[in-house]
Amino acid sequence: MVPRSPIGELIVKRFQPWWPETENPTALEIGTGGGCIAISMALNLENLDVEATDISLDAIKVAEENVLLHSVGSRVRFYLADLFPEKKGKYDLIISNPPYVPSAIYNMLPEEYHCEPEGALVSGEDGMDCVRRILERAPDYLTDGGLLFMEVGEIWEVVDKTFSNIDFTWIDLEFGGEGVLLVSREQLI
Ligand SMILES: C[S@@+](CC[C@H](N)C(=O)[O-])C[C@H]1O[C@@H](n2cnc3c(N)ncnc32)[C@H](O)[C@@H]1O
Repeated sequence: MVPRSPIGELIVKRFQPWWPETENPTALEIGTGGGCIAISMALNLENLDVEATDISLDAIKVAEENVLLHSVGSRVRFYLADLFPEKKGKYDLIISNPPYVPSAIYNMLPEEYHCEPEGALVSGEDGMDCVRRILERAPDYLTDGGLLFMEVGEIWEVVDKTFSNIDFTWIDLEFGGEGVLLVSREQLI
């Protein structure tokens, strides 16, 4: 239940100083895996209602077991979906640590990575298939002023260059890691 993603650091800091916490905030996590980010958000932000998606039924099953283990009850709900839930909702926060490894790099990764499903890591030739689709569709799912936090790791410079029309904030991470972007709905449209 310890997120390996540097997004864990942002959760502990309640997404401060970027996110103006509202009274009944909602969040969507895309690509939840075992649910560590979604559940950690519910544990750290006591009023937050969290929905989370994954394309893997096996992952959703593990995430549902983890919800029971961590007693966050109905505040965290999982959906089998291709990135965004079918039912269009609006969220104050969208969080994602999507797959972003370019396919050619996958075989060169250390052995530990090959213990994970390939679909959790690889996302097309340039690693950006999911990233691209999330950036395109996030505005439809964000409330006015809503924020997207997304980890893109070592491909952050490619993302920054490819979407040079978008003014991303690249977050300084105190506890290590790289390539976590912050962007608002208004900056995406
Ligand atoms: C890098 S893992 C992140 C898992 C977890 N959120 C974490 O940070 O440890 C990426 C996750 O995205 C899921 N995924 C890949 N493609 C997806 C898609 N098109 N729609 C939804 N989830 C997807 C994978 O099944 C995997 O669980």
